[in-house]
Amino acid sequence: MADSTELRAEVARPTLRPALQVNALGKRVPLPSGELTILKDVGFEIGQGDTVAIVGASGSGKSTLLSLLAGLDSPSDGSVVLDGEALSTLDEDGRARVRGEKVGFVFQSFQLLPSLTALENVMLPLELRGDADVNGPAMQILQKVGLGERLAHYPRQLSGGEQQRVALARAFVTRPSLLFADEPTGNLDTHTGQAIIELLFALNAEAGTTLVLVTHDEHLAGRCGRILRLDSGELVGEGVAA
Ligand SMILES: Nc1ncnc2c1ncn2[C@@H]1O[C@H](COP(=O)(O)OP(=O)(O)OP(=O)(O)O)[C@@H](O)[C@H]1O
Ligand SMILES: [Mg+2]
Repeated sequence: MADSTELRAEVARPTLRPALQVNALGKRVPLPSGELTILKDVGFEIGQGDTVAIVGASGSGKSTLLSLLAGLDSPSDGSVVLDGEALSTLDEDGRARVRGEKVGFVFQSFQLLPSLTALENVMLPLELRGDADVNGPAMQILQKVGLGERLAHYPRQLSGGEQQRVALARAFVTRPSLLFADEPTGNLDTHTGQAIIELLFALNAEAGTTLVLVTHDEHLAGRCGRILRLDSGELVGEGVAA
């Protein structure tokens, strides 16, 4: 019979499943000139509450990788398990559910809805998941990113950096367990960029949000616990930030 003390110890140990498990991930696309390999044999694991920077030259596959990790795109090879959910076993509706429940995403190109105001853009994810109070939290987060005076502006009436902050607010507002952001400080001046970095890491510290950030910003990468480096679609190095 199994030793009961051992059994109890097993039960008591917290089983913290990884936020992300990535195995032999590949992305290939057909082109008239032949097949293009964008990502090849990428594998790593990210723990809950980790902060990870993905770095690499332009065209190395960072945005493609981020889309695969968040279930916005499907891999050609390999698998992604997000908080215990194997994305490849889910259909598009299933992946949308997982994203809605667990994921915030900030696109490199922001992707705000042009017909909605800043406030409406930020309220949208709360409305989609059926929250009763959507106005208050959306206003609060927009104030936090310094846009309390721009609530009724449409995206075309906002500067690039302001649109980026609306996109961040939209990703933050649901307090996701995993936040993916593609160049979150890319278009911001140093002061605003610093404020966004503080906001990201406050979310990590307060809510335990796992952060996966694509960035060229050395200061931002340096704040992360880990750095994953891509070169021509392959993971070439992993380091702990200096
Ligand atoms: N759907 C697609 N069809 C063909 N090629 C693609 C497609 N998506 C991406 N690529 C190519 O794959 C490579 C990686 O693109 P990706 O956008 O992931 O790079 P990145 O590392 O994010 O670059 P950047 O730092 O400039 O944003 C690029 O050379 C790009 O042209
Ligand atoms: Mg990119």
